[in-house]
Amino acid sequence: MLKIGNVEMKNPVVLAPMAGVCNSAFRLTVKEFGVGLVCAEMVSDKGIVYGNEKTLNMLYIDEREKPLSLQIFGGEKDSLVQAAQYVDKNTNADIIDINMGCPVNKIIKCEAGARWLLNPDKIYEMVSAVVDKVDKPVTVKMRIGWDDNHIFVSENAQAVERAGGSAIAVHGRTRVQMYEGKANWDYIKLAKESVNIPVIGNGDVQTPQDAKRMLDETGCDGVMIGRAALGNPWMMYQTVKYLESGILLPEPSVREKMDVCVLHLDRLIDLKDEYIAVREMRKHAAWYLKGVPGSGKIRKEINNVETRDQLVELLYGLAEDDGLEDKITTAV
Ligand SMILES: Cc1cc2nc3c(=O)[nH]c(=O)nc-3n(C[C@H](O)[C@H](O)[C@H](O)COP(=O)(O)O)c2cc1C
Repeated sequence: MLKIGNVEMKNPVVLAPMAGVCNSAFRLTVKEFGVGLVCAEMVSDKGIVYGNEKTLNMLYIDEREKPLSLQIFGGEKDSLVQAAQYVDKNTNADIIDINMGCPVNKIIKCEAGARWLLNPDKIYEMVSAVVDKVDKPVTVKMRIGWDDNHIFVSENAQAVERAGGSAIAVHGRTRVQMYEGKANWDYIKLAKESVNIPVIGNGDVQTPQDAKRMLDETGCDGVMIGRAALGNPWMMYQTVKYLESGILLPEPSVREKMDVCVLHLDRLIDLKDEYIAVREMRKHAAWYLKGVPGSGKIRKEINNVETRDQLVELLYGLAEDDGLEDKITTAV
């Protein structure tokens, strides 16, 4: 079973951290579909250290989400350590994760995210500095390397382990790949063979069968799922069940999809406020509607909704259309 430091997960299925997505509203909704661990979206170390209100609000965790891993990013040791100490003492997160995979220029320019992948010594220095100052287990989420000529996944994973890190998650792409091409699971296997701490595999798990294949082929201890969960928390439940029993559960009805979408919306309204939540929910609603017959015709309207009631009316209008209930064509 997946165990990170003293934190034990009830199964190996992990919700990936996703910026702009994995706030408490979404995480709790996914958690209720049975995943072993949820990861929060990345939070800026400097935002925490400077007490930025928006950043501090991102640290909110509902007890029901636990166990939860909270990810911070940064490029300087002092601020990274201070932010980790803040998370350690002032939040109910179970695990502190360090981002070492974010490929976007804005983050790389601050010497953060995937920038570290080129320098195992820096990884060792930064991770050990954090580990020394906090009580919660510290983990790192990394990509396999910078580009095809600079894949140091083995050295980088070992640097995390030597520094006292409790686990690593490995996304099987390089920084240069961004989200293009295919995740290379061979490097996840290599990471697993390089260290004794748990390794969580990540990248291109789209179905419950993919999750099983990743566990079998790489020997990894957990399987992290990102994009396949967007608008589709059922996929997580189907994966948990498939790994437990080999049984593939059926797709939900349209009505059920809409019910969960509205639950997610209401949680987002509680977390932010209606104005922000409805705008944020437009993209989620489009994801929930993927594969729902007839949804194409309301997509444009969804992008213009301003209130909860308008959105709910559109969603349930679709679910109540005659004969649609059991005709979802694809999962996501
Ligand atoms: C919208 C979006 C936001 C993401 N934000 C983060 C993030 O905050 N931290 C992180 O480590 N990875 C982030 N990722 C990367 C995912 O955690 C994951 O590594 C990647 O999507 C590959 O997994 P998948 O194929 O299951 O989606 C993000 C990905 C997406 C699509």
